[in-house]
Amino acid sequence: MARILKDYLSVSLRGEDLDGKIDFVRIFGRPGPVHIEIGSGKAAFLLNQAKAMPHVNFLGIERAAKFYRYAVDRIGRWGLKNVRIIRIDAPHFLADFVPADSVECFHIYFPDPWPKKRHQKRRFFNSANLNQLLRCLVPAGTIRIATDHAGYFEQIQHLLTTEVSSPACPLLERIDFSPAAGADQGEWVGTNFERKYLKDQRPIYTLAVRKV
Ligand SMILES: C[S@@+](CC[C@H](N)C(=O)[O-])C[C@H]1O[C@@H](n2cnc3c(N)ncnc32)[C@H](O)[C@@H]1O
Repeated sequence: MARILKDYLSVSLRGEDLDGKIDFVRIFGRPGPVHIEIGSGKAAFLLNQAKAMPHVNFLGIERAAKFYRYAVDRIGRWGLKNVRIIRIDAPHFLADFVPADSVECFHIYFPDPWPKKRHQKRRFFNSANLNQLLRCLVPAGTIRIATDHAGYFEQIQHLLTTEVSSPACPLLERIDFSPAAGADQGEWVGTNFERKYLKDQRPIYTLAVRKV
């Protein structure tokens, strides 16, 4: 029997309540470094990472209503005080609501690869969205990425190293991708998609960059 999902008002942030750039201290009820996960799915990463890093304020962005509701219920049941989640389109949220120099780390794990050529323009990684990430990051803030899709990974690397940032004008530098604090043994990040792909023995590509 399907479980009834509960809404937790202290967990969910409502797009309709936002008015201009958000104040993370007000939203979390305390100061602290802010990490944003884009496309949180069922929130496995958010839950374990927030538990492992209680001093960090985590915000998940998830567009799909069914995953968002599932995530709110799970975060609420776990009783975590340092996680919020919002159901909204990530590019719109970044551009309109996230202040400049406010985010310490973006986590983007298994973004939809849109494998058909005619759909690739729907991919999250493009220069406009990457410029938004850069604007929102604090100095020396980081972006962490994982995907199982080799073609998309190549496109992301190209974007990071030659389009948005380049050797002549470096805005980002590559750093080691260390396993996430909340991940289990043998995992990089511990999301639902990673767990599924590890079982299928698919290769997983990771990349981390720091704002210069
Ligand atoms: C392939 S799933 C990966 C979910 C999770 N990161 C994982 O690894 O298990 C991609 C997720 O990103 C969400 N998503 C896709 N485009 C989005 C957007 N523009 N804004 C917010 N979420 C988005 C989808 O709804 C989906 O839950």
